Amino acid sequence: MEIVAKEIDRYIEGLYSKEDPILQEMERLGKVRNFPIVGPQVGRVLFILAKLVNAKRVFEMGSGFGYSAYWFAKALPIRGMVYQTEASPQNSELAKEFFTKAGLHKKTEFLVGDGVKLIDQVKGEFDIIFIDINKLDYPKAFAKAKNRIRKGGLLLTDNLLWSGEVLEDTDDPDTCGIKEFTQLLFNDSAFFATILPIRDGVGVGYKL
Ligand SMILES: C[S@@+](CC[C@H](N)C(=O)[O-])C[C@H]1O[C@@H](n2cnc3c(N)ncnc32)[C@H](O)[C@@H]1O
Repeated sequence: MEIVAKEIDRYIEGLYSKEDPILQEMERLGKVRNFPIVGPQVGRVLFILAKLVNAKRVFEMGSGFGYSAYWFAKALPIRGMVYQTEASPQNSELAKEFFTKAGLHKKTEFLVGDGVKLIDQVKGEFDIIFIDINKLDYPKAFAKAKNRIRKGGLLLTDNLLWSGEVLEDTDDPDTCGIKEFTQLLFNDSAFFATILPIRDGVGVGYKL
C-alpha cells in the first residue's frame, strides 16, 4: 500500500533545496544499492524535532551508512553527539567516510554491533533515541530505550506503518514486531505517542 500518493511525495520533495552535496551523494547511494534510508522528508522531520527538543545527545539503533544520523548531526550544537550503531562494519565504514568528508565527524561515534546491546555501553540519558533496526527486534529495542530518554525527550521510530502491512492479521515476524512495539509505545503511560504518516510512518513518542 502507498501511504502517501507519489505525486504528493514529488511535490513536497520538489520544495527542498538541494544544497548539501553529501546528502545528495548518500541519497544516490541509497537508490543505487536499494538501501532503505529514511529519505529527505523524514530526514527533515528528524532535523526539526532535534532542534525543537534542543537535542544534544542522540542514540541511533540501525544507522546504515549514516544518512539519518547525518540529519541529526546537522541539527545538533557543536558539542552535540550522535551515537551511531550499525550491525554491518562495511556500512559503518561508509558512514565514517561521509561524516569525515562533511566535517561532521566530531559530532558522532560509530559503534559496530547490535544497537539494542550497545546502548548499555553508553552512559547517561539521551534527548532522542531513534530506532531503525530489524523490525522483529523493535519490542526488545523499546524495552532498552524507554528508560534511557530524558523527560521531554523523544523516542522516534521508522516504518511503523510498514507499507500498510500493519492493517493485516498476519504472523509475519517483522509486521508482528512493529505491531507489538506500537502497542507497547501507545500503552506506556511514560509516553505521549503518535504516528506521522509520512513515507513509511514515523513513530513519535514524547517522554512525559
Ligand atoms: C533501515 S537501515 C537504517 C537506515 C538508516 N537509519 C538511515 O535512514 O540512513 C537498517 C540498518 O540497521 C542495521 N541493523 C539491523 N539490526 C540491527 C541491530 N540490532 N543493531 C544495529 N544495527 C542493526 C542493518 O544492518 C541496516 O544497515
